[in-house]
Amino acid sequence: MTAAPTDHAPVDLRSDTVTRPTPQMYERIASAPLGDDGLDGDPTAQALEATAAQLLGKEKALYVPSATMANLLAILAQAQRQEIVLAEAASHIYVTERGAATLTGTFYEGIAGVDGAMDLGLLEEALAPGRNKLRTGVVCLESSHNNAGGAVLPLAHMQAAFEASKGVGASVHLDGARLMNAAVALGVPVSRITAFTDTVSLCLSKGLSAPMGAVLAGPAAAIQRARGLRKLLGGSQRQVGIAAAAGLVAVTTMVDRLADDHAAARRLAHGINRIQGLSANAPQTNIVQVNVASSGLDADRWEAALRGLGILVRPWGKQLLRCVTHRHAGEREVDLALDAFRSVAGHADAD
Ligand SMILES: Cc1ncc(COP(=O)(O)O)c(C=O)c1O
Repeated sequence: MTAAPTDHAPVDLRSDTVTRPTPQMYERIASAPLGDDGLDGDPTAQALEATAAQLLGKEKALYVPSATMANLLAILAQAQRQEIVLAEAASHIYVTERGAATLTGTFYEGIAGVDGAMDLGLLEEALAPGRNKLRTGVVCLESSHNNAGGAVLPLAHMQAAFEASKGVGASVHLDGARLMNAAVALGVPVSRITAFTDTVSLCLSKGLSAPMGAVLAGPAAAIQRARGLRKLLGGSQRQVGIAAAAGLVAVTTMVDRLADDHAAARRLAHGINRIQGLSANAPQTNIVQVNVASSGLDADRWEAALRGLGILVRPWGKQLLRCVTHRHAGEREVDLALDAFRSVAGHADAD
């Protein structure tokens, strides 16, 4: 198969992490009041933490370098050695992180789920106290759910998981790397979602477009512990307001526009489903999973062929591609991507 040359800049659908800071972020960075976050505090980081705590409906929040660290701190702060951390089996925390198992002595158990939602019967079974069982310290939820094609946890599911967990004294942590996408998709204030959690992480550098950083929010005591653990892990920084300034713009101005990303994802999925040999999920948020099993090419070959046409995507297993829409990949870029998908599908048929 030969790829035609492209006459457009690459369309990067690999992730919403590729988004660049907005002009307003650069302005805020330039004028941000700064201090030493490791000494007596950085005022811009403090402002971000206060804003995020209020937005997420929690007592306190902590600015951290990444969503991975926010999730790790939540678990370290709430699960003791020899306790179990339960997470949906395809969740980012279970599949990609498990940091607390490496660093302390907690044990992760995956609970099978559908569309990112754990089977509640299996969750209750896992939580049930038993004479020869380790105690569960934390139950982790994820919404929107990365590996489930950006699926959003229904509030009723979150409430049931929360009540089951609290019934045995376990904490609930929400991996909200893309939580604002979930809130926009559900059409509810984000605090309605976080009401069914003790702690929540929120990534600022995905669809919200900040260049770096995440926040962890929760009860004052847990966030106090997380602050100490952040230092221990080397995540305490100095004039961190430089980065937090962009985060403030992210949480205060970049949420509503996520609806555009969701519309672009629906447009992409709709177009994909009209191409012979391909099928896509019905995206609730900004992640489109393209199944290439019936196309005659595997995911790696699709990725290479699309790259040749200036469209960047990520293989997500042998037969699946992941495409993520974001601020730099809207309607026009989706249409360019669809042209490329059609072209590769045409050549694949001819192979
Ligand atoms: C659901 C989820 N949680 C956590 C993370 C980790 O984020 P980061 O790599 O920014 O630490 C990711 C990254 O893709 C994610 O998709």
